[in-house]
Amino acid sequence: MSDTATPVSNLHHERHPADAGRPTRDEIDATLHARLAALPAPKLHADYEKQGSFLYLDDFLPREYTERLIAAVHDVTPAVNRNYLPGHKAGGSVSRHTLDRLAPFIADLYRSEALIKWLEAISGDKLQLSPEDDPHAYALYFYTRPGDHIGWHYDTSYYKGRRYTMLLGVIDDSSCRLDYELHTRTPNATPEPGSVQYPPGALVFFDGDKLRHRVTPLRENEMRVSLTFEYVTNPNMRPFQRFISNMKDSIAYFGFSQVFRRKGGKNGQA
Ligand SMILES: [Fe+2]
Repeated sequence: MSDTATPVSNLHHERHPADAGRPTRDEIDATLHARLAALPAPKLHADYEKQGSFLYLDDFLPREYTERLIAAVHDVTPAVNRNYLPGHKAGGSVSRHTLDRLAPFIADLYRSEALIKWLEAISGDKLQLSPEDDPHAYALYFYTRPGDHIGWHYDTSYYKGRRYTMLLGVIDDSSCRLDYELHTRTPNATPEPGSVQYPPGALVFFDGDKLRHRVTPLRENEMRVSLTFEYVTNPNMRPFQRFISNMKDSIAYFGFSQVFRRKGGKNGQA
């Protein structure tokens, strides 16, 4: 027997790199609770309302968690799904199904009660997790090739209720900008343009049906990765909306195998 052979008893204790030193869900909650206590929700809710359901904070996530997200990017890079929609979008995505497998810290962060409570205070809405089979519930978006971008759009809700998007900066070695227009759907309001380059650890939070936005094209030798969390007010979807949403996700984001993998699952929202 070779000296270098791994004893069978040790194999059970091997952990995936994404799991190494991973905080428990209680620890995540305690850390976020402490961090978010320093970000006064009433004032930020007022800012959010004034900006037509949009909030930007350039220093949001605790640094140690931002570093964990950066490590997660490395862990999931081989699983990136590239997409190209001529004239609208080019880039890579990693869906929640893949993150569950390769980056479980992200799944735990998404479910943090402290985070959800704070987002509820900002939005003024009762928030729910997106259904198990929604690949956007949490996902990483990769901009890695020159020209990667996404054109003007809304994060339209195909659910019966509202859909909120939270973006976190993870890696930004790029000139890409998140351009947006506030108040485009506020009656009698004048649209107000804005633009941010959100660095690692920064937060963008908005009502998907209210913020018109885009990400400008990546240039040579640049890279950008952002994390998105999606929360809803009613996780039910009508059958036709479900079909449209699935086709869009298959073509524009995650590929058919990821989107339809749970077809016929208990929620039937593959
Ligand atoms: Fe979007």
